[in-house]
Amino acid sequence: MTNARDHISLDEQARAVLRGNDRGGYSVPTDGLYPYQWNWDSGFAAWGFAQFDLPRAWSELETLFSGQWPTGMLPHILFHRPDPGYFPGPEVWGTEGLGPVPSSGISQPPVAATFTRLTYEKDRAAGRVHIEALYPKLLAWHRWFMQWRCHEGMIFVTHPWESGRDNTVDWDGPMAAIDPVGIDPYTRRDTAHVDPHMRPTKEDYDRYLYLVQRGRDLGWDDAKMADSMPFKVADPTMTFILLRANRDLLALAAELGEDSAEIEGWINVLEEGAERLRNPASGVFEAIDLKTGAHAGNVTSAAFLCWYAGIECPVMLGELMEAFEASQFPVPSQKVTDPKFDAMRYWRGPTWTMMNAITALGLIDMGHPDAAEELRIRSARLLAERGFAEYFNPHTGDPAGGGTFTWTAAIWLAWASPSAPAYQGATQTEPQRGEQ
Ligand code: GLC
Repeated sequence: MTNARDHISLDEQARAVLRGNDRGGYSVPTDGLYPYQWNWDSGFAAWGFAQFDLPRAWSELETLFSGQWPTGMLPHILFHRPDPGYFPGPEVWGTEGLGPVPSSGISQPPVAATFTRLTYEKDRAAGRVHIEALYPKLLAWHRWFMQWRCHEGMIFVTHPWESGRDNTVDWDGPMAAIDPVGIDPYTRRDTAHVDPHMRPTKEDYDRYLYLVQRGRDLGWDDAKMADSMPFKVADPTMTFILLRANRDLLALAAELGEDSAEIEGWINVLEEGAERLRNPASGVFEAIDLKTGAHAGNVTSAAFLCWYAGIECPVMLGELMEAFEASQFPVPSQKVTDPKFDAMRYWRGPTWTMMNAITALGLIDMGHPDAAEELRIRSARLLAERGFAEYFNPHTGDPAGGGTFTWTAAIWLAWASPSAPAYQGATQTEPQRGEQ
């Protein structure tokens, strides 16, 4: 464990990571591997900056929304400045003319409303002008999800990258059904930065690019994509995060005196949809391949976001207790006893501490403070001992992927560090505490 002096110097190191990845009004996730602005990474970055530089927290969010498409879609990558070290760049996405900033053609988990609210709670006086500006943009983005990515209350993704969990076991079935014919020749850049054993395989990558080409061929048209993308999977990450984000947007609407009937309607729809994600056989929240109707049949870290969404689940609480027993540094992205668990390969086993941070916020909101604290203490030990890496082996704590990672440093400052402010729970709107 860290002593007081250690954690103060770790706080300094974390702030230095955020400063080092600052490109002027926005952050890159890490130098080299990810040289642009990523959508949900920026939400976490804002939460980190909010601990020591509130104006910079607001500019992170505002720069992110500078890339919003007229449709309301907020892209998963904004290519603010060219960088030949990254593939696939803007020319591969073919989105010219669709948005104000060169970008990808898909979105990412909508954490921004939640971090807007948490930033505002630290900055009530000066922050009002920022929430006034952000509110309509957040509303338009959430409306886009509800209109174009919602199937029976479940939010679906049209590309694995849209979920933020690129190569999770959840996609194995739907990805195997895709034949990536006719893709242009390409050279990966990620494996020049990181050991290939920690990254997705070539089979995955061929399909990622095939799906980008399909989206491009469809002109990134929302109706056509919902209709004809070969990959269409209802995702617990997206569904839970949007449900939570709508609750936070509702709180912002109340603060601003805005009419909130539309948001309340979305919350009801998503609460029903979230229940559909529950596999009746196991009681676990799982992805569903909308092409076949099949549940994915495995336990990933996405399922532990139920509390963050305001949904109680004794089965998941049992899974969390098992995860504490089975590994030193939970929550693994894939259950460690699953034959497909792969301790170092990206979303197929490693622990991602930003997922732990939001899981813990949910546990606190839903009345499980001890479990939240256990998760915080173990995550804090991991980061104190192994640094601010992208992700970690849940058994050994070995760091993996990119080093000096923005969201890892951010959640240290906002949540894991002993000097982080204690999260008091979502105060203005009580999430529904339904029992299973
Ligand atoms: C990877 C992650 C994704 C993240 C991005 C930038 O693609 O899977 O969630 O947003 O890297 O950090």
